[in-house]
Amino acid sequence: MIKARVPAENPEANLGDYNKRYQSFNWKDIEEQFTWHTTGRINIAHEAVDRWAMDPERKERKALIFEKGDTVAIFTYLQLKEKSAQWANLLVRFGFETGDRLFVFLPPCPEIYFALLACARIGALFCPVYATSTFDEVSVRISDAVPRGILTHPDLVEMLPTDIQDNTEFIFLTEGPLPNLLANEILVGGIPQQMPTEFCNIWLRPRSPLYLSYTSGSTGPPKGVVHAHDDMVGILSTAREVLDLREDTVLWVDADPAWVTGIVYGVLAPWLCGATALVQGDPFEAANWYWTLEKHSVSVWYTTPRTLTRLKEAGGNLASRYDMSHLRHMATVGAPLVPDIFYWVKQHLGRSPHDTYWMTETGMICLANFPSMDIKPGAMGRPVPGVEVAILDEDGEPMPPLSLGELAIRAGWPAMMVGLWLDEDRYRAYFNEKGWFLTGDIAIMDDEGYYFHQGRNDDLIKAGGHKVIGPYEIEQILCMHPAVSEAAVISKGSEPDEGVSYLKAFITIHKGFTPSIRLNHEIKAFVKASLSSDIIVKELSFLERLPKTRSGKLLRRVLRAGELGLPAGETANMEE
Ligand code: WTA
Repeated sequence: MIKARVPAENPEANLGDYNKRYQSFNWKDIEEQFTWHTTGRINIAHEAVDRWAMDPERKERKALIFEKGDTVAIFTYLQLKEKSAQWANLLVRFGFETGDRLFVFLPPCPEIYFALLACARIGALFCPVYATSTFDEVSVRISDAVPRGILTHPDLVEMLPTDIQDNTEFIFLTEGPLPNLLANEILVGGIPQQMPTEFCNIWLRPRSPLYLSYTSGSTGPPKGVVHAHDDMVGILSTAREVLDLREDTVLWVDADPAWVTGIVYGVLAPWLCGATALVQGDPFEAANWYWTLEKHSVSVWYTTPRTLTRLKEAGGNLASRYDMSHLRHMATVGAPLVPDIFYWVKQHLGRSPHDTYWMTETGMICLANFPSMDIKPGAMGRPVPGVEVAILDEDGEPMPPLSLGELAIRAGWPAMMVGLWLDEDRYRAYFNEKGWFLTGDIAIMDDEGYYFHQGRNDDLIKAGGHKVIGPYEIEQILCMHPAVSEAAVISKGSEPDEGVSYLKAFITIHKGFTPSIRLNHEIKAFVKASLSSDIIVKELSFLERLPKTRSGKLLRRVLRAGELGLPAGETANMEE
């Protein structure tokens, strides 16, 4: 287990002393901070936007800064309230009701956020889809959720299957004019501006649905994860304690708005805190990323290990040319933050990235490296206050520290999904009979309560009959070879009698190295020296790049499927 420790960066952060906070924490104290605690009237749009817009001291504060190319659009809390009220009026005008679904199939643009709040106001479900989705991906999702309307752009309309175009009641287009609008196509253009800027929110139940986000499983079609209005309790608490948001924070979350991170922490979290959300609509470009941090005086940045890896590839020199003095906290999510990247960032950006762990299904961060807590590079951190986490064995029983098993969360935390869209069976399969939610992630907890990710359940490698190994550890060993940049390993069967497990490794190599048979043998010999004799890396392939999701998660199952000649399964969200 990793022993290195990096001292807490900001002991003054919101959370304070971790152990004290964890022990004294009570969700009721967080609930009391919402207006519905006294009024009984629940709607996240009210808590995230309206209450600040109705407060003379706060209404002119910036709620959203949206940048794309040369244009920067800024919306105050008051403007955001009015715009989203106009959009809610528009939806109602077209017959939308509580429980209806609105698909949002757009590249990053302010309309996405107006639509999100408009849906919240009427209790409709906001369903974002990546603008880069394939025809099939869009089709599967839309056929599953059967939305009343789809908000999209003329350039993307062609991606919509014809039967869906015909059967969806409304297709709202953000821009035009179009040569031939179909009967159900509505050019939104200036319509919202003609709508009233006031809207009477529908008051909802705590668990009334707010959004529907599709996530790919390792088997079967994508799962429609449904989240509710009272997720706000968990979002507010983690926004303050993990991301250290305050009212004067400018938070930049460089995640696509179709990814749960882009919605939950991209906008809902900063708005619930009365802070400013920055959205950068341009595709990644290293210099532009640093410039965005400097130009908007970003104070908190929530990013991914993949983005940091790309910044590393662009070189430390580039980083030194920008002024990031306003940046007081940075965190990552989505994939392991490996020590190599951690230390590079610390050296070249002058602050520590704080790894956090959560899933679409959890609705909020569940494990985190808090700003006021020492970091162990390579660890996902410790459970957020109010959330109970354990490592379970195959019988679903919690295991002692330093055991490898499945990461599980005690069901009932506030932002837990309310269900899977029309799929009660798959929803139930997430929970064991003892009330634990099973994440499908394999992890180890050390004796100080820090969790280390070891891969996904379905990536497990068995050796010697019962021994279970996460692929991550072996990949880390491969990466210690100077030529290896990234690695993925999959199981290639075993010889149970001899207790030997064979693996295949896929690697990408650093610039300056060339794939060769000699290098292939050399790397295999290198790992052999560090692995027990029952685990053998038998084959090794050089790849240009490893298959990953758009958020940078390694897709070992795609490699496995390729090896076995099987279908790769749902590859939505996969990087092109
Ligand atoms: C993985 C993301 C390692 C994990 C908000 C999880 C991580 C899946 C980490 C959820 C981390 C997330 N270290 N792996 N810090 N954070 N993951 O639904 O496998 O897109 O189950 O939600 O990402 O991905 P999702």
